[in-house]
Amino acid sequence: MKADINGINLHYEVHGRGQPVLFIHGFPLSGELWAPAVERLGDGCTLIVPDLRGLGQSEATDDCSMGRYADDLNRLLDAIGETTPAIVVGLSMGGYIAFEFHRRYPERLRALVLADTRAVADTQEAAKARIVLAQRVLREGSGVVADAMLEKLFAPDASPKLRETWRRIMAASNPKGVAAALHAMGDRPGSIETLGTIKAPTLVIVGEKDTLTPPADARTIHEGIAGSRLEIIRGAGHMTPVEAPDRFAEVLRAFAASLA
Ligand code: MLT
Repeated sequence: MKADINGINLHYEVHGRGQPVLFIHGFPLSGELWAPAVERLGDGCTLIVPDLRGLGQSEATDDCSMGRYADDLNRLLDAIGETTPAIVVGLSMGGYIAFEFHRRYPERLRALVLADTRAVADTQEAAKARIVLAQRVLREGSGVVADAMLEKLFAPDASPKLRETWRRIMAASNPKGVAAALHAMGDRPGSIETLGTIKAPTLVIVGEKDTLTPPADARTIHEGIAGSRLEIIRGAGHMTPVEAPDRFAEVLRAFAASLA
């Protein structure tokens, strides 16, 4: 489905009926990341799966920011008439956006799931490297970023088929949207101070073999959010929902049930 959101055409899917769950994918991915979870979670929830601005099938703009992504999601909930506070699930860049969504729209949030993400901002060096990569993407296309990311996304023993599927999805991303996301991530505020302000029930998930946002990052988030739970998914890398779909869905289902 498409909605006109803050001046762009945003692609999204909605499945099932019940407690809303808003899924926020990572970089440079798409709502496709959540397909295995959607398949396994069944009908008891309203599963809302957007493609972020400039990624997947959503329209791109030259610039973006964590605030802009969060505002798009807020307007999307309005557009589909969803007024019940949602369980917000963000992976990696989706986690950075979830922190921003919490700062801007805490009343829309029933609970948080922070998967394979981190609370610290980029170092100056990392932010500069994003700008250089964004320039290359605009010149040479998104294949550059797909190649740069692929090895970091998966555990060493992830299947070649899974890697190939995601290389294809990343390489097909709109270069303008990918470059804008790189700038947005480099500019993002740190969320360490936000951790202590989060009162919503929170589940922190990380793949045991995640090298991009390793378990130490998840522990920092877990220790900073009072009452949060930490789930380390054995054998998985950064892409927990597709590398360990059964376990990911099971943990998410149990967390949602604990809120009812
Ligand atoms: C992601 O998976 O969303 C990104 O790799 C996060 C990042 O580059 O900081």
